[in-house]
Amino acid sequence: MPFPEYRARRVRRSEGLRRLVRETRLSPDDLVQPLFVVPGKGVRNPVSSMPGVFQTSVDELAKDVRDSYDAGVPAVILFGIPEHKDGQGSDACSDKGIVQQAVRAAKDACPEMVVMTDVCFCEYTDHGHCGWLEGDDGHVHNDQTLEMLGLQVLTHAKAGADVVAPSGMMDGMVGYIRDTLDEGGHEELPILSYAVKYSSAFYGPFRDAADSAPAFGDRRTYQMDPANVTEALREAALDVEEGADMLMVKPALAYLDVIAKVAEEFDLPLAAYNVSGEFSMVHAAAQRGWIDAERITLEILTSIKRAGADFILTYAARDVARRLT
Ligand code: PBG
Repeated sequence: MPFPEYRARRVRRSEGLRRLVRETRLSPDDLVQPLFVVPGKGVRNPVSSMPGVFQTSVDELAKDVRDSYDAGVPAVILFGIPEHKDGQGSDACSDKGIVQQAVRAAKDACPEMVVMTDVCFCEYTDHGHCGWLEGDDGHVHNDQTLEMLGLQVLTHAKAGADVVAPSGMMDGMVGYIRDTLDEGGHEELPILSYAVKYSSAFYGPFRDAADSAPAFGDRRTYQMDPANVTEALREAALDVEEGADMLMVKPALAYLDVIAKVAEEFDLPLAAYNVSGEFSMVHAAAQRGWIDAERITLEILTSIKRAGADFILTYAARDVARRLT
């Protein structure tokens, strides 16, 4: 038996060598912290399926924003849960709405923080769908929803959002929002498009956190079929054409191939959303002592970056940033 000539193990012999040859580096700069805001004062409700994640009132959110920034996280994305939901999701389009208040408080508490807003209706409608319902079979009317998204996005812009992130998967969403922003004098406000968003069971815990599960039906007529990847490229191409500044693939972990393909094909900055179910699975297994949550989290986030994501939305952002610095 011949012994091997090439010894790959030589460069793995010490931590110093491993650091030198490391190809992917995870940094706090790569992370976006999602935060959930609810009405009230001094509120900090734990989300039971997501250990360490809370629904907070605006005052507490401001502290979390400061805290995340001090930990090294450059951006947050805000999700609002209003006092009252209705058929049209009116709170989403109000200058006094919950997320608009949160944006102002976040920017006051920490002007350096990049404040992103999720632009969608599912947290605001009593039926839990992402837009305007036509009839009673749960069909979301595309173009009517675009008009509502236009109203919503202007209130985010006026509140001072730094990035708007439409997540509703309506056709023409990015182009409509771009035109609306431009006409409203917000030419400089960038759009992070949830360009490739799958209809996924991994969003389960988020729908508890944001109280946004559809009251009936599901989102398969607007979100993508998990089986498709060529379609992902078509979706991304449309959003690029319509003026997206950054693209997103969501979820991340079961879609690393999609991240890799989109990263290869398009040169816009690419985000990936390490979603609620991905986070909860890690913590549920860790609570049973089956896995090491800290190590697995770093491994997962590194793999998402290795696949081609430039930055990652993750519930672990603040904790990971602290560990990386
Ligand atoms: C829609 C939205 C969802 C998530 C982010 N934005 C939920 C959905 O499409 O049902 C899910 C994020 C997660 O699971 O962490 N506003």
